[in-house]
Amino acid sequence: MRYYRDPHGYLRLCHRKYGDWFTIKLIPCGNLVCVAEPTAARAVFREVGSVGEAHAFLAPVLGQGLPLLDGEPHASAVRWIAPALTSARMQPWIEEISRLTASEVASWPVGRPFALRPRFEQLAMRVMLRVLFGEGAHERVATLGPLILRLKSRDLVQSVLAALPFGLAKWRLIGESARTAQAIDACIHAELAARRAGTVVNDGALAHLVAPRPDGTVATDRELRDQLMTLIFAGHENVATTLAWTFERVLRHPAVLGQLVEPGRDDRYPAAVLMEAMRQRPVIAEVVRELAEPFEHGDHALPTGTHISVAIAALHMRADLFADPEVFRPERFLDDASTTWTTPEAAIYHPFGGGARRCLGADFAMLQLRTIMSTVLAQADLRAPDSAAERGVSNGMAVGPHRGALVVMERRR
Ligand code: HEM
Repeated sequence: MRYYRDPHGYLRLCHRKYGDWFTIKLIPCGNLVCVAEPTAARAVFREVGSVGEAHAFLAPVLGQGLPLLDGEPHASAVRWIAPALTSARMQPWIEEISRLTASEVASWPVGRPFALRPRFEQLAMRVMLRVLFGEGAHERVATLGPLILRLKSRDLVQSVLAALPFGLAKWRLIGESARTAQAIDACIHAELAARRAGTVVNDGALAHLVAPRPDGTVATDRELRDQLMTLIFAGHENVATTLAWTFERVLRHPAVLGQLVEPGRDDRYPAAVLMEAMRQRPVIAEVVRELAEPFEHGDHALPTGTHISVAIAALHMRADLFADPEVFRPERFLDDASTTWTTPEAAIYHPFGGGARRCLGADFAMLQLRTIMSTVLAQADLRAPDSAAERGVSNGMAVGPHRGALVVMERRR
């Protein structure tokens, strides 16, 4: 359970104690071989694309969404979905994201501590629904946000875990979570039916998803439901948690904050700040694969079926890759122009995972993060209530700051 209490700290501790390869036992998933060394990470990303049963715990919510697919079904789903999320398609949303952020900030309390993460969850959810459903993001779609946030609360993990000892079908929702999931499905299916009947505007990224796919087929309602849930979950959770960490870091580093709000600053600086926050506090602490065939690297030979992970949280804190890794220094991403930090080939910096399963929303995420961060900084004068850094805690999906990134807003600008 120590892992869930502090995934970053636990993986870093295991790395220090046991070296570049180590095995941890996760309840309820079993043994997981972790690698925290760049050549092994590169080999895993290049050679192992399968997840097998490793993400089965997500099935009650995501169905056959991308993280649960393997082989050709996964590759063809990527070909279908990726074009819906390109920078060119997302660029026109910047103004709307900025507007939604300003209206979110306007609701924040002045002069008393509050947690940023839940606020960013609401905001990132609104952004995701707007981008996916476009003008069609009307009342019915608006009800989806609160339902999904309810399903995602601790309830979800508890509900799935509670089902296991009673021999219920593997990984299923029960009780209130099951009822919420049904309400979500009904909402999505009604929206799809309305689009097909032409009674609502068919735009946003969903318009691309309901159109014929590259192979000429049209997605079924079930496929659309599963991929929409995947995009909504993966999109809003990771963006909100990354923003929470970024403010948790920045507000404890006044020099960084000073540079961020300085007029005429280097345009690349905000991106470097986000990258540094994702280096020290990756919201996905490790990415897991299940070997579909034996895997060998150096002295290590693992049989088919082994669960193997790239321990991103440990890799990002290697002193041989990142000088003074404990120091929060965005300049490291600006100084060394020769370092190809952002390419999957870099194999040392992986906030978005890597290989064939690398995050499909990475470009869109960076665009959102920059827009939201700069709008918040322009609108709100924030400070950390104390100097104690927050540790990471897992909610079963992402690793967020344990106090939710507590801040005080001194005044609105
Ligand atoms: C800061 C924000 C985000 C972070 C840190 C993040 C990180 C990740 C990571 C680590 C993975 C697993 C990659 C792997 O297994 O190698 C992933 C997968 C994925 N992400 Fe993101 N993500 C973010 C935002 C988004 C957004 C905005 C979207 C969609 C709009 C998105 C969609 C996806 C999808 C669909 C997958 C599954 C890919 C697959 O299995 O093929 N993510 N993300």
